[in-house]
Amino acid sequence: MGAPTPDSVVTTARVGAILVVTVNNPPVNALGVAVRQGLAAAMAAAQADDAVAGVLLVGAGKAFIAGADIREFGKPAMPPSLPEVCRAIEDCTKPVVAVLHGAALGGGLEVALSAHYRLALPAAKLGLPEVSLGLLPGSGGTQRAPRLMGARAATELMLSGKHLSAKAALAAGLVDKLVEGDDALAAGLAYANELLDQKAPVRRTRDIAIAEPSAALADLEVLKAETAKKTRGLFSPLKIIECVQAAVQLPFDEGMARERALFLECLDSPQRAGLIHAFFAEREVVKVPEAKAAAPRAFATIAIIGGGTMGAGITVSALDAGYPVTMIERDAESIARGRANVEKVYSGLVAKGRMTEEAKAAVMARYTGSTSYDDLANVDLVIEAVFEDLEVKKAVFKELDRVCQPGAVLATNTSYLDIDAIAAATRRPQDVIGLHFFSPANIMKLLEIVVPANVSADVVATAFELAKKLKKVPVRAGVCDGFIGNRILAVYKQAADYLMEDGASPYEIDAAVRGFGFAMGPFQVTDLAGGDIGWATRKRRAAARKPGDPKARYVEVADRICERGWFGQKTGRGFYLYPEGARLGQPDPEVLAIVDAERAKKGVTPRQFTADEIMRRYMAAMANEGANVVHEGIALRPLDVDVTFISGYGFPRYRGGPMKWADMYGLPQLLADIEAFAKEDPLFWKPSPLLIRLVQEGKNFDSLNHSA
Ligand code: 3HC
Ligand code: NAI
Repeated sequence: MGAPTPDSVVTTARVGAILVVTVNNPPVNALGVAVRQGLAAAMAAAQADDAVAGVLLVGAGKAFIAGADIREFGKPAMPPSLPEVCRAIEDCTKPVVAVLHGAALGGGLEVALSAHYRLALPAAKLGLPEVSLGLLPGSGGTQRAPRLMGARAATELMLSGKHLSAKAALAAGLVDKLVEGDDALAAGLAYANELLDQKAPVRRTRDIAIAEPSAALADLEVLKAETAKKTRGLFSPLKIIECVQAAVQLPFDEGMARERALFLECLDSPQRAGLIHAFFAEREVVKVPEAKAAAPRAFATIAIIGGGTMGAGITVSALDAGYPVTMIERDAESIARGRANVEKVYSGLVAKGRMTEEAKAAVMARYTGSTSYDDLANVDLVIEAVFEDLEVKKAVFKELDRVCQPGAVLATNTSYLDIDAIAAATRRPQDVIGLHFFSPANIMKLLEIVVPANVSADVVATAFELAKKLKKVPVRAGVCDGFIGNRILAVYKQAADYLMEDGASPYEIDAAVRGFGFAMGPFQVTDLAGGDIGWATRKRRAAARKPGDPKARYVEVADRICERGWFGQKTGRGFYLYPEGARLGQPDPEVLAIVDAERAKKGVTPRQFTADEIMRRYMAAMANEGANVVHEGIALRPLDVDVTFISGYGFPRYRGGPMKWADMYGLPQLLADIEAFAKEDPLFWKPSPLLIRLVQEGKNFDSLNHSA
């Protein structure tokens, strides 16, 4: 396929006195350079042709126009710019109508706002979602939307990045009319002809005065204060408010100039690079060899084994997606608890007024609890979430092998166990896969799809299909201790423990990690999850520790805390104090005394670490283990590591993930840091072979994202 040309992506045809201008640039009619040139040429032609009395802008396919072509950002700009194209549309002396039947987003909506009239069909969705990409609407959106819908509503739309339905857009004043149906061309022509018959005037959005400017400015001040608090660390939201202030205070052309300047600042920001990387990575992550090679198996019914924390959460997720679910537990008491765990989630929604009793009853009608595996004879897909114990899981899979129909997909939610060994407990390892959900499973987006050696490709494809149905973000992972996420977590958690023993307090470490953009630091996370969980794992693993092992340096602070029964939030005390069930912890002098005592025991003289030094070690540990995970083929590409951390570990999305962070930090510098840390602790700090190779070749992690 050749590069798109202006003629191929924007076509014009005269229907009576109307010039129909169709944007046809699949998949979403993004406004790449050829589309911009095509639109500019079409507007010039419409202006010049006396036979044309009006113009209709329409999108081919599912979208009107989904916005600027995101792939062009960061590359040299090619004329005409989108603001110039929008200007040409608005300047046209013949009425221009835009008909919106699908996505009219970002630059796509800005094109529509430059038209003189807007018609929507029911499937239209309108929005200015640039904020999600670290940007602001840069083609007049910040100046025109407030003129049509009011400053406050427009700002809220831009800050939220939300899409409005056709109905909501009509109510907000963004469109003039809503008609039923799905034939955009016919509806658009009918509306355009109606306007021509009525001799409707050219009506330019830029000429509209913003309603109640002083009230608008006061509203914007309130929004500014709220936004500064809410979007800690994000660059573009406050710039959006500045643009709207300009729209209220300045003449249109000066407002446009202000918008352009601030748009270019956003375009240059690393946050834009991080957020756009995240956008594409989330779309690439589903492109895995098995899903390309095989079609998913059909599945209509789901069974969950175990009704504890995870089993109940996964059940809710499957019920929410409309599936009938059978839950199996060990005995009558456990299944009653399992059902109660599920019901509690819906009762919570009812209590908050987010669900009716009838809706809850309808959902629960699709739930069946049982203690008999024989009830699974006809089920299509089973997800096991029993205790994390290989022998227990093997016994469950033997039972599943006995009762399930041929072709049923058998999945385990194990966090760490060897899925090859679990599969080997059955006579059908080709049907066994890992589906690693995160807690709470009905809320967390990440789903690691763990691919054991003998699973068949169509089972992997089925897992990706399930993720789509459950609205999860799937990441393909290989079998190893902890898969992608928990394996890397173990390493940077260890780096945090070493920092603590070497001189940084847990509170300084958490503050540095929050300052980087995580919602919580590692010690806060421990307190939230419950210190006892990690303690049990550490006790199990203690026996296996050998001298010379990188894990030989063992920090005992957390054990000392657990020995006192301080398991975090649920016990009111952990690394932090939680007086009277407070969710935000307070530093605890007794914990600091424990840390001091442990340092003294090991003969460590505490050093000072700045927040920057803390983060250099924390991130180096994360990115280096990420490189190992890619090197070993546990993750297909660096982007799979990035998506894992953004979707499941609270990594700040605007930094694009740990591997994107490493690329932006610079791989030669990262390697130099690790080599310097290795001088102090060569067992722990070992540069990944992949990192060494990329530095030698002068490449970055992103170079591996495009090779599959
Ligand atoms: N530019 C380039 N490619 C885009 C794109 C865009 N604006 N929007 C979507 N795509 C690509 C996707 O990467 C994907 O490519 P792939 O098939 O190779 O993976 C393909 O189009 C289909 O996208 P989705 O998988 O997301 O399809 P959906 O049907 O699920 O969703 C959508 C469609 C709602 C339009 C969604 O793609 C979307 O939200 N797109 C981004 C919209 C956006 O943010 N627009 C603002 C851009 S910034 C801007 O306009 C700046 C301006 O103010 C100057
Ligand atoms: P849990 O202890 O809350 O629940 C386990 C449930 O399994 C209990 O209700 C128990 O009665 C039931 N069970 C045990 N043996 C059974 C059997 N033979 N048949 C039927 N039911 C049986 O445990 P949790 O936290 O839900 O963990 C379950 C699995 O999910 C484990 O493998 C764990 O590693 C994994 N996991 C846990 C996460 C978490 O944050 N809790 C996150 C991701 C995975």
